Amino acid sequence: MNHHFHIITMGCQMNEYDSDLVAQLLLSMGYLPTSDPLEADLILINTCAVRARAEQKAVSILGRVLKQKRRTPDLKVGLMGCVAQQRGGDLFKRFPELDLVLGTREVSRIREHIHSSESRSRVLATELNLQPPASPNASGYFRSRFTAFISIMEGCNNFCTYCVVPFTRGREASRSPDDIVEEAKHLVTEGVREITLLGQNVNSYSYGKEEGQCRFPLLLRKLSSLKELLRLRFTTSHPKDLSDDLIRCFVEIPNLCRHIHLPFQSGSNRILKRMNRGYTREQYIDRVRDLRQAVPSIAITSDVMVGFPGETEDEFMETLDLIRQIEFDNLYSFKYSDRNKTRSSTMSGKIDEWEKSRRLGLLQKTQKEITIRKNKSFKGAVVEVLAEGLSRKGDQLTGKTEGSKIVNFKSDSQLLGHIVKVLIKESSANSLRGECLDSAGGDQIY
Ligand code: SAH
Ligand code: SF4
Ligand code: F3S
Repeated sequence: MNHHFHIITMGCQMNEYDSDLVAQLLLSMGYLPTSDPLEADLILINTCAVRARAEQKAVSILGRVLKQKRRTPDLKVGLMGCVAQQRGGDLFKRFPELDLVLGTREVSRIREHIHSSESRSRVLATELNLQPPASPNASGYFRSRFTAFISIMEGCNNFCTYCVVPFTRGREASRSPDDIVEEAKHLVTEGVREITLLGQNVNSYSYGKEEGQCRFPLLLRKLSSLKELLRLRFTTSHPKDLSDDLIRCFVEIPNLCRHIHLPFQSGSNRILKRMNRGYTREQYIDRVRDLRQAVPSIAITSDVMVGFPGETEDEFMETLDLIRQIEFDNLYSFKYSDRNKTRSSTMSGKIDEWEKSRRLGLLQKTQKEITIRKNKSFKGAVVEVLAEGLSRKGDQLTGKTEGSKIVNFKSDSQLLGHIVKVLIKESSANSLRGECLDSAGGDQIY
């Protein structure tokens, strides 16, 4: 009888990519996927450690899964991802029934580790100094039939003082451009039309040395020449590594989506310095101006946090002011959270939870007004949308604009996987709605 596996994934897109890779490797061992944990012989929990809440959630899910193991002792349970990397062998002390702790650089070796766990009661694999494998598996991660991720680099060298990622993902290491192009080719032959390149610091991608060196803009140019790849995206970019050459890519590469996710974190120079972000408020504003000068329609989204240790009311106001000034197309906002090993966790001036919530509320209200206003301005406009699938209710198609706005629209189902023109009729804070102006003579979806 075949073994069944079930994977629970939390955290960022890199975890989604890793979970998919693990799934493909398990399939190649004869395991079958199941969506029902009670049917599984192997449960893997892929975890995130970026904020305390994410880690608590991981630990509580692990607790629940280990309860199931007490009833069915043959069940194997593994923890992977950033909590596994960060806590390592200590996890076995707290959770003696846990079978496998798999670090972030060990994902492609899952088959070996599963084999060892058959003969040993506990397997700990958290080596962090490993290079990404030459080619983990020419697979990619399918978010939908037509869109996929490719992880192009691991790790981060920036050591922002609040951030756990350099500890959980190790130092930066880029995959070879040839492997990435192979993976992209494979995805395109499978019908994928949009690829998102992933890295914690994707624009510092660099492979090889001297004349053979491939930097990020060159990688983009190589990939963009793939026939049938309608759209290319990337995330997340660091403002300090945003080169003029990369800005030119937005002008020169036709299938590169005019969208950049460029976290700014704070609008105050003193806080940016304490965060070790490597740029000032003015430098950030200048880069946004250069981007908009090159491509006026470019969508700019960002991440920001409130309540960093020592953040005063005035400094928080500088953040609000920056948000009003830039008018981001979308903004992900967080309350600062103390993380183990980070420099900020030992800084003075911690802000209490109530105050952080107050600041976050104000910030989100400010951004919501901007997003609603921006979305309203789409009314009556014709936008290009990649038709990705059926909307949640199943009565319309859904897809995204170049700027990653969700659009639901009445259309012909034959247009799935194509870029179509949509006339926008309505807008809300989270999405746009419209009617498709193209037709392929298939079934109408209303
Ligand atoms: N590499 C990316 C994103 C890293 S994690 C970057 O450099 O921007 C995603 C977001 O989580 C960050 O942009 C930051 O806003 C937030 N974040 C990271 N550490 C955090 C912490 N300790 N507390 C609260 N938010 C945090
Ligand atoms: Fe964390 Fe900063 Fe690296 Fe982003 S750039 S992953 S916030 S250390
Ligand atoms: Fe979380 Fe690790 Fe991603 S900490 S955000 S899963 S890199």
